[in-house]
Amino acid sequence: MSLHCAAISFLSLSLEASICSINEATNKGRTLQKRINSGAPSKLSTEFLSHDSPEPTNKPCFCGRRHFIGASTLGTALFPIQPSVATGPCSDYSAVLNKFHPPRPDWYEEFYAGVMSSSTESYEAEVAMYKSQIFSNLKGKNGLRILEIGIGTGPNLSYYASGSDVEVVGIDPNPKMEKYARSSASSVGLPPSNFEFIQAVGEVIPLTDASVDAVVGTLVLCSVKDVDMTLKEVRRVLRPGGLYVFVEHVAAKDGTFLNFMQRVLDPLQQTLADGCHLSRETGNNISRAGFSGVELNLAFLSSATFINPHAYGVAYK
Ligand SMILES: C[S@@+](CC[C@H](N)C(=O)[O-])C[C@H]1O[C@@H](n2cnc3c(N)ncnc32)[C@H](O)[C@@H]1O
Repeated sequence: MSLHCAAISFLSLSLEASICSINEATNKGRTLQKRINSGAPSKLSTEFLSHDSPEPTNKPCFCGRRHFIGASTLGTALFPIQPSVATGPCSDYSAVLNKFHPPRPDWYEEFYAGVMSSSTESYEAEVAMYKSQIFSNLKGKNGLRILEIGIGTGPNLSYYASGSDVEVVGIDPNPKMEKYARSSASSVGLPPSNFEFIQAVGEVIPLTDASVDAVVGTLVLCSVKDVDMTLKEVRRVLRPGGLYVFVEHVAAKDGTFLNFMQRVLDPLQQTLADGCHLSRETGNNISRAGFSGVELNLAFLSSATFINPHAYGVAYK
């Protein structure tokens, strides 16, 4: 599988991946980057800009200093991310990005996106049967508006956006994912006007309350800085009755050798694989996130070695 969580073989990728934690002194403060195919202002931009609409939202103010990546002491000691000088007002989404996904070097983001695009084949082949199962909940329903958090290169689009008239918003803090995600969207036949990529994090989703029919997230809660906050945002943007479709790798059972290894390797993995945590009990987070129902299953994928088991399923708002 690939570099990140998928990249089970992180040790072999240690050199290049580790650089993800090196702070790029020249990395400029990032702004919310919306890319709209037509170039014309979209519904979404209006939504975001008017986020302080009368609708109740739980958008706290996230200004503050850039934090160290949620990586190990070892990792940060070796590859420190420097604190940001950003102390300005909270109106700018770049402060949110800085807080939840501190800037990586440009070249690293490019490299990581490239690896994700080119090395996930065997993993995707193995996980396909589970994905087919959960994404069947979205198939054949026209007119859905779907948000994918941490869309990456867009490997899930073929499951839910192929040949249908869905509208997809993909968010990811790594802007280099956009071209791959767009290409995936186009290769499954999603019209460009139905796809929007926003550089954003799951902890603060730049969409209004109850504005999507479904949220998709695969291999992303291992990487977000705050799992519970992200799940709260997922619930917030889902319309009542909406679905959250997920596949996440989680910690192995307590007391097993695999669990022991995950805990030992976790700090290293966070450092080498763009903040990915090996030993999060994400299934529990999803179960207690306040969804009205959660169907959660576990699968063990041989292509994912230490990155097992996988919790997959559907949660209902
Ligand atoms: C292992 S990749 C998975 C990508 C894609 N979902 C897949 O299944 O191939 C993790 C993705 O999460 C993104 N990510 C990292 N931190 C995030 C955050 N706080 N919010 C949303 N996405 C994040 C990364 O940029 C990356 O694209």
